[in-house]
Amino acid sequence: MAIQSILRMGHPILRRRADPVSNPKAIEISTLIQDLHDSMAAAGGIGLAAPQIGVPLRVILYSVPGHRLTASNSVPQQDSAALGVSLGVPPTILINPELTPLTEIKLEGWEACLSVPGLMGRVPRYESLRFQALNTDGQPIDGEAHGFHARVLQHECDHLDGILYPQQMTDLRWLMFAEEAQKLNSPEVTEALKD
Ligand code: NI
Repeated sequence: MAIQSILRMGHPILRRRADPVSNPKAIEISTLIQDLHDSMAAAGGIGLAAPQIGVPLRVILYSVPGHRLTASNSVPQQDSAALGVSLGVPPTILINPELTPLTEIKLEGWEACLSVPGLMGRVPRYESLRFQALNTDGQPIDGEAHGFHARVLQHECDHLDGILYPQQMTDLRWLMFAEEAQKLNSPEVTEALKD
């Protein structure tokens, strides 16, 4: 178990494009993946990209709480009802992820980032996208994400291109200290993405 410290906005590794992983099954990648899991659990986020722990490779870890999944990308309603739970996306590793928007529609939503502590902002993101990547066994993954799931993927993949969420904002008046955002008393704020 190795909890790595999380780099903060301004560090050069957060500003550069990360390199593709050539061998997902290499021992260094297994170590990186374990460190991502340990560091994300310690920090209490729902996503973490390798550059945030100082490794400039195209690997992300993310999860989506069940109540944040829209019906269209959750398990079928009757199945989740039968189970009595709302299933989210469990902690998932994507290697060399590629995103393709499936719509031109962008929605605004609150985001925060472990690399930009203390702040929150409203960020426009594509509502729906296709994601392609490799899993930890090097096998291809191909899926669709909508809403909050799509937002998390865009935030994480931006980290691989040296982009932090404030750089995607179109109205910087909505970049604020988290303490001020809480005063807006919006359920959206308390549910904001944090990674
Ligand atoms: Ni982040």
